[in-house]
Amino acid sequence: MKHTPVTDLPPEWQETIEEFLTMRFRYQSAMREVRTKLEILDDEFSMRHSRNPIHHMESRIKTPNSILQKLRRKGLAPTPQSAMDNLHDIAGIRVVCAYLNDTYAIAELLGKQDDLRILRVRDYIKCPKPNGYRSLHLIVEVPVFLSSGKELLPVEVQIRTIAMDFWASLEHQLRYKEVTNVPDSLNQQLCDAAERIAALDSEMQHIHDQMLSWVDQAEE
Ligand code: GTP
Ligand code: MG
Repeated sequence: MKHTPVTDLPPEWQETIEEFLTMRFRYQSAMREVRTKLEILDDEFSMRHSRNPIHHMESRIKTPNSILQKLRRKGLAPTPQSAMDNLHDIAGIRVVCAYLNDTYAIAELLGKQDDLRILRVRDYIKCPKPNGYRSLHLIVEVPVFLSSGKELLPVEVQIRTIAMDFWASLEHQLRYKEVTNVPDSLNQQLCDAAERIAALDSEMQHIHDQMLSWVDQAEE
């Protein structure tokens, strides 16, 4: 990937922009590594079991604006180096799975790979956030091989079902209206909706399990 240097800028600006572009390139490479691993896991699963556990994936690199906002919020220096030292979600992948059990299966298979290290797990499926948010969050560290040598970089992986993704996407949009002091009753309704969605996830998992054993019996 080639980028055109920004001209007519004071040298210190030029330096920061170069540093930022280098940082972005590194995280994009780390994200690509993890994404490829997930695609391979999905393909292998599909070859063995004739279905894909991963419904789809989304990936993103945090924008400069969002990086700066987060550094400011945490009272940290607003520089690319400080972002690399302190933020673990510069690169993020969202893995949307078909069924509940697929989320844990994907996390487990990823964890077994010896060139990848799981730095942190937050299981918001077993322990949902108070607002009802559910997802399995991993921070993984992968090596990226550059001409300057090997670098270990963190990537945030959010694993959830289609149903959890449906709730989280709409809740995110609602929050983005930036309305403060939302009445408790509305928050409660949102949380209740998350509970019903979680019940549906369990129901779909149960139907899927029954379907599998029915197919097994029919084949015998
Ligand atoms: P951040 O500083 O926000 O990254 O927090 P953290 O490092 O403590 O991570 P956390 O596990 O809270 O979640 C990080 C990411 O998960 C967020 O950037 C969102 O993408 C997603 N997330 C967490 N909580 C919610 C939520 O309540 N609603 C939605 N829609 N997404 C959430
Ligand atoms: Mg974040």
